[in-house]
Amino acid sequence: MITNKSKILVVDDELGPRESLRMILKDEYEVITAANGSQALGHLEDSEFALIILDIRMPGISGIELLQKVKEKAPSTEVVMITAYASVDTATKALRLGALDYLIKPFDQAAVRDVVAKGISRRDESRSIKKRLSDLQLANKSLEAQVEESYNNIQKHYEETINSLVAAVDAKDSYTKGHQERVAELVYMIGEAMDMDEEDLVVLKKAATLHDIGKIGVDESVLRKPDNLCREEYDMVKKHPVIGAEILSPVKFLEEVIPLVLHHHEYYDGSGYPLGLKGEKIPLGARIIAVADAVDAMLRERPYAPRKTVLETCEELRRVSGTQLDPKLIEAVLDRNLVPIYEELTKDRV
Ligand SMILES: [Fe+2]
Repeated sequence: MITNKSKILVVDDELGPRESLRMILKDEYEVITAANGSQALGHLEDSEFALIILDIRMPGISGIELLQKVKEKAPSTEVVMITAYASVDTATKALRLGALDYLIKPFDQAAVRDVVAKGISRRDESRSIKKRLSDLQLANKSLEAQVEESYNNIQKHYEETINSLVAAVDAKDSYTKGHQERVAELVYMIGEAMDMDEEDLVVLKKAATLHDIGKIGVDESVLRKPDNLCREEYDMVKKHPVIGAEILSPVKFLEEVIPLVLHHHEYYDGSGYPLGLKGEKIPLGARIIAVADAVDAMLRERPYAPRKTVLETCEELRRVSGTQLDPKLIEAVLDRNLVPIYEELTKDRV
């Protein structure tokens, strides 16, 4: 029979107290009885109880053991212990283990009704708190998802903006057009030769694709100038790594890329810019971009210099190894013939 009454399980090995409790409670609650611990466990498997009244002294599974099992399985189910005067100590122990209260035999009807009503209302309260908590957690999760989505959208927009800036730099400076993309391929080859792991290679490639983005802030006439630059003009060009780092700084997912963009014009001997970092103080990725940048520059025609052959490029790399560029990287590039391989790969590309 389906009923809206709260379900109570009475567990006592003696028929007398079991029946007496059933009689006291049956009008207000749906009362199920069990004569021992294993029967009680069977009932607990089958249905959920609002409250369990449990005799402490039972053969087989004791009341205390059963109480522990109930609290493990259904922590919100309230448990009231039944005891005789002789075992009030055990009842106190039961309270410590999570029982709500205890009833002393023989039962006082009013006391039984009171304690059961108290148990049911406490159980309802804890269920409603749990429900509110889980609703809050759900709401929280949905908020987190919304925040993440907004964050991803912002990042996506930044990425699109950056792509537009790269396109704008390409349009502004014909030499830069395609240069960043080619350099990104060469840095990957050098990074692999240096046994960099895949994650670092991805950062390195991204940095190479963006390394000259700061040129967006340098005057077009200076970028396109075919003759040697005057000091002032050169100073303007030298600002592009810092401008690039500033452009990228709001983009969280590019934070590892920024130092590589910022330092790609540092010289190994400390005479580069913007900070004059020296040797291994320069991030490895930035040193690699510097090498790839130089190789690609030499193999192309530039406003201020004719293109070099593969041989001339290799000679020049040897000449600047240890001063401008990291000698270990030059060694790796030359040992693995990366210059002719790269030239072959990109010769038809502007
Ligand atoms: Fe640059």
